[in-house]
Amino acid sequence: MPVYLDWNATAPLRPVARAAWLAAVEDAWGNPASVHRIGQAARACLDAALQRCAAALACAPEELVITSGGSEALATVLRAARGPVVASAIDHSAVLRNAAELRTVAVDEQGRIDAAAWTAALPGCAVACIQAANNEVGTLQDIAALAAAVRRLAPQALVLVDACQAVGRIPFAIRALDADAVAIAGHKLGAPKGVGLLWVRRGVRLPPLIQGGRQQADRRSGTEDAALAAALAAALAEAVAEQPREAERQAGLLGELWQRLHAELPQLRRLGGGLPNTLGLVHPGIDGRHWAMRLDLAGFAVSTGAACMAGRGEPSHVARALCRDEALARSFLRVSIGRTTTGDELLAFAEACAAAARALAALSRG
Ligand SMILES: Cc1ncc(COP(=O)(O)O)c(C=O)c1O
Repeated sequence: MPVYLDWNATAPLRPVARAAWLAAVEDAWGNPASVHRIGQAARACLDAALQRCAAALACAPEELVITSGGSEALATVLRAARGPVVASAIDHSAVLRNAAELRTVAVDEQGRIDAAAWTAALPGCAVACIQAANNEVGTLQDIAALAAAVRRLAPQALVLVDACQAVGRIPFAIRALDADAVAIAGHKLGAPKGVGLLWVRRGVRLPPLIQGGRQQADRRSGTEDAALAAALAAALAEAVAEQPREAERQAGLLGELWQRLHAELPQLRRLGGGLPNTLGLVHPGIDGRHWAMRLDLAGFAVSTGAACMAGRGEPSHVARALCRDEALARSFLRVSIGRTTTGDELLAFAEACAAAARALAALSRG
């Protein structure tokens, strides 16, 4: 099995999520809307899962909508927008591509939103989207300051926080944010794919993306999957409980990795930074796809950016925005670690990564 260093693409299923999932598939397979006992068993499982998610996120269960993942949670808010959406140039494509009218705001070389450009873009907007943590370079945004500017300059707008990469990785308390909606992706936390959450502040009314049986207080139609919800709750509870310890451990591991790599490759540059598990790298004279392929052959799974974009062979829009140098942006490599990553794995990876970079740089010099 290759060493998995692509945790921002998706995380392996947590054993607690698997156990909760399998148990609920057996015991709570009914339709939660059915009035008979089989339906009510599914309803009880679903309600318990929502309670557990709400406890982990420090919010009320009624504020949570179960979705198919982060993209749907974001789309539910963005597609309801009656007017421009403001987002940064390094937001996820699930944000950028769901806005009918988009105003993108530039970021600095660390990936932080330019405050002046943000305030200039806000007047008259319908939704302001803040990416809590970037999936490719790990940059964290100052949510409090950016949201405060929205309240001041665009009081009519909804503040949407994309927390898909933040929950379970950094301290994240919904109540402490001045947000109207927060999107969460289950599979980044070690839940199965196909489930996520949208937190919506009480009093904010969003039309459902799909009309149907009016499930979830008519916020998201479609029969709820109690088993997926139970798995999500188990993964979320564990991820949040482990977060302080894991963040410290992973930041330590990644710091050592960076030191080692930089000592071997003096021209290596780190892009962004902030998430304790994410290292974005660029190196002159290298094609990131070749770098990642060599590493795959050497037994290490890394990526050239967001998995959805890498699959299309497009260079990362995030690396482009931070590098301001097209050729350098094409060398981008993302290393993202997780709860099972060990120091020994990263020691071996550092060697393979440096060797591959040296070989590719030599080839490009001819
Ligand atoms: C920052 C960010 N937002 C949104 C998404 C979309 O989430 P999902 O894959 O659950 O639809 C992802 C992951 O792909 C992400 O990293």
